[in-house]
Amino acid sequence: MSDRELLIVVLAAGKGTRMKSDVPKVLHHVAGRSLLGHVLAAASAAGGSRMAVVVGPAMDTVAKEVAAQAPGAQVFVQPDQLGTADAVRAARPAIEGHTGDVLVVLGDTPLLTTETLKRARQALAADAGMVVVGFEAANPFGYGRLLRDAGGTLLAIREEKEATEAERKVTLCNSGVMGFRAEHMLAILDGIRNDNAKGEYYLTDAVEIGRRKGVSASVVEGSEEEVLGINDRAQLAVAERLYQDRLRARVQAEGATLVSPETVYLSYDTTIGRDVTIEPFVVIGPGVTIGDNVHVRAFTHMTGADAKSKKGVSVADKAEVGPFSRMRPGASIGEGAHVGNFVEVKNASLEKGAKANHLAYIGDGRVGEAANIGAGTIFCNYDGFNKHHTDVGAGAFVGSNSSLVAPVKIGDGAYVGSGSVITKDVAPDALALERAKQEEKPEWAAKWRQLMLRRKKAKSS
Ligand code: UD1
Ligand code: CA
Repeated sequence: MSDRELLIVVLAAGKGTRMKSDVPKVLHHVAGRSLLGHVLAAASAAGGSRMAVVVGPAMDTVAKEVAAQAPGAQVFVQPDQLGTADAVRAARPAIEGHTGDVLVVLGDTPLLTTETLKRARQALAADAGMVVVGFEAANPFGYGRLLRDAGGTLLAIREEKEATEAERKVTLCNSGVMGFRAEHMLAILDGIRNDNAKGEYYLTDAVEIGRRKGVSASVVEGSEEEVLGINDRAQLAVAERLYQDRLRARVQAEGATLVSPETVYLSYDTTIGRDVTIEPFVVIGPGVTIGDNVHVRAFTHMTGADAKSKKGVSVADKAEVGPFSRMRPGASIGEGAHVGNFVEVKNASLEKGAKANHLAYIGDGRVGEAANIGAGTIFCNYDGFNKHHTDVGAGAFVGSNSSLVAPVKIGDGAYVGSGSVITKDVAPDALALERAKQEEKPEWAAKWRQLMLRRKKAKSS
């Protein structure tokens, strides 16, 4: 790999009007992460020592996303969207101070791989003055075409609007990823004019201008799906599908069985161990880690990171969850623990071998080793103002349909009788019962039935 310094400039100033959204285009999500987040991750992994992101005016949310996903990156504002070359020029201070290589990437291409960026970088290291990542387009309409001479030398990139009939037949297209050696980049950029059909400063003109200055450009080929740019919601859905396929293939390669892969939705950061089985219709949001030999039954929903919480979800080795379980941020399922149907776990841990098999809410608490939470148990964690903690000790048994009103502690080995509303701590190994004494009236039911039958007869005769 090249040891030349690398600056990566990410263009993210486009409003993305075709998204019809109040959210800037690059903040829409694929597999649980923003489009820009994907691009920044690929760029960081390509070995970029510096990163510059160009955003539009009044795009504070985009700048925030940059700070969260790539804290070291510099943010530049492009006041008016005058074209891709103008966008790169907005990052001039970063380029001016740079010696080495510069890669320009588009912020709306979430499928771009680190591998392709590395190949572009290698081309620069191998003495190309400029590099363009191209791809063979099934339908080249709208893309810049790579025009080469008979020997394969890149002569120019022609945008759709300026292309002749013959040039439009060219199927090798510009992905938008371009690389430059820093030493002649600014001179080339400054030579770009807006004398074209769109009145824009086209970054793609750099190829022709470079040639006139004696700087040659080489072409690195990527795949069409990798450089898919998101301009509307339909393309967003295509990117999601392609990305999900990648994620599914990855966890399968790592030893997970997906019974019906196309119905399992993963996130960019999903971690799954070996010999894990995931049944159909499972949704795994961001921040989820699953150990080895785990069984995830159908219709389970897990998500470890939402707008409010950054806490993850973890499911340890040999645990079983689902069907119809819900794991929310901070759910930690211990080794061999069981979480069954219609059980919701939030910010709570079930320790080794603990069980909550049916219909329960376990929020803000701990369930000790091998403890059993009966059907219908609710951790009453919220008083309308604050959240409180519930602690269930190791080996404790909470009978069905109990409410544990937090803050409250059930000691190790204690029993809670079914239907109890527990508001006070229970000592280890004690039995806590909170319900009216059962009354019994012998023969009452039989007498009542006879009375009712007599009345019915009297009415009908
Ligand atoms: C661009 C390329 C084209 C290539 C295609 C690949 C140019 C002139 N054309 O065309 O050769 O085939 O991408 O998808 O470069 N942006 C800014 N500021 C601007 C203009 C654009 O930040 O002033 C950003 C946009 O947010 C977007 C990216 O640059 O992420 C590309 O801009 P766009 O207008 O979509 O270019 P295309 O016409 O698709
Ligand atoms: Ca585009």
